[in-house]
Amino acid sequence: MTSRERFLAACACQPLDRPPLWIMRQAGRYLPEYAQLKAQHGFLKMVRTPELAAEVTLQPLRRFPFDAAILFSDILVIPEALGQGYRFKDEGGIAMERRLEGRADVEGLLPAAEVPSRLAYVAEALCLVKRELGGRSALLGFGGSPWTLATYMVEGGSSEHFGRIKELFYAERPVFDALLGRLTDSLIAYFHMQIRAGADAIQIFDSWGGVIAGPDYEAASLAWIRRIAAAMPAGFPLILYAKGTASHHRAQAGAGVRVLSVDWTVDLASLAGSIRGSGDPVALQGNLDPTLLNTTPAVVERETRRLLESMRGAPGHIFNLGHGILPQAKLACVERLAETVVNWRS
Ligand code: CP3
Repeated sequence: MTSRERFLAACACQPLDRPPLWIMRQAGRYLPEYAQLKAQHGFLKMVRTPELAAEVTLQPLRRFPFDAAILFSDILVIPEALGQGYRFKDEGGIAMERRLEGRADVEGLLPAAEVPSRLAYVAEALCLVKRELGGRSALLGFGGSPWTLATYMVEGGSSEHFGRIKELFYAERPVFDALLGRLTDSLIAYFHMQIRAGADAIQIFDSWGGVIAGPDYEAASLAWIRRIAAAMPAGFPLILYAKGTASHHRAQAGAGVRVLSVDWTVDLASLAGSIRGSGDPVALQGNLDPTLLNTTPAVVERETRRLLESMRGAPGHIFNLGHGILPQAKLACVERLAETVVNWRS
């Protein structure tokens, strides 16, 4: 079976001899060939140039036997397409070119319908990768969740306490809803474009889903994700990654997504047991602690086996980390992780 077939079978919770494998942020800073290309062109140019984005997407697959390629891009292309650009600060983190202050700023964003044409370079990059993969490996598209994107747009960049977006949510709900509605419509148009360009699955990154109060997670984030899921073709593999939301995994499993990607704080096998039988089957993706890849190959092999064994007999597991790979990750550790997963048998 091809890697693509393996990946799609896992999304559909079919039994497999071993789980498929990919790694969040697999195209990135731990790879010397990525660093070299970035030194030459810069991040934003690589994102906006289909040939460069396709090249970076394929880099990790040339080195490791991953079953899926994830498009090299960023979640912040959506705010940019709506008229709010971004840059990286020298000291780390994101700075948006301005901050959304109120209703007028939200209404001044460009229409969602313009997003596909403004992000045509993403579709071109996906087509180039698809042609190269020829259906051997799965091709993943992605986007940020409406909530996570809104945090960057309202805070004006990376944030520590998320005070502005929370103030908007609690004190100016109609403006909050207008912004999240615009983002939701944009993401639906964007994901349809990615599917037309050949994406086999799409991951939604709700990276900041864990910062809103528990009783408000539904209204602030999950409700908008439900709308996106409902607008996808029937059965399309939508993957939801929401960091720090362990108490919401049951609700997420009923949101219309096919796969939950969970962080390392969760015991994956217990979660598999607790969501089984509650509605449509949902596959689980994860969830090794990314810092393990900064240790030694022997430690990585031990912990990888432990996770694989804990999920033995539970269909619908996609092996991954619990969050993105860190720049400090050692190539020998990534190699051992991949060897251990592809040689394991259920
Ligand atoms: O997984 C992949 O390999 C695909 C590429 C990808 C990138 N960003 C490339 C990237 C994906 C899926 C993302 C998603 C993304 N971008 C998220 C959600 C994912 C998560 O980890 O929760 C978020 C929050 C962003 C916004 C963003 N982009 C941040 C916070 C940063 C780091 C800024 C910093 O100061 O370090 C980025 C930059 C970024 N996006 C890099 C890469 C490879 C690093 C850029 C570099 O080379 O310096």
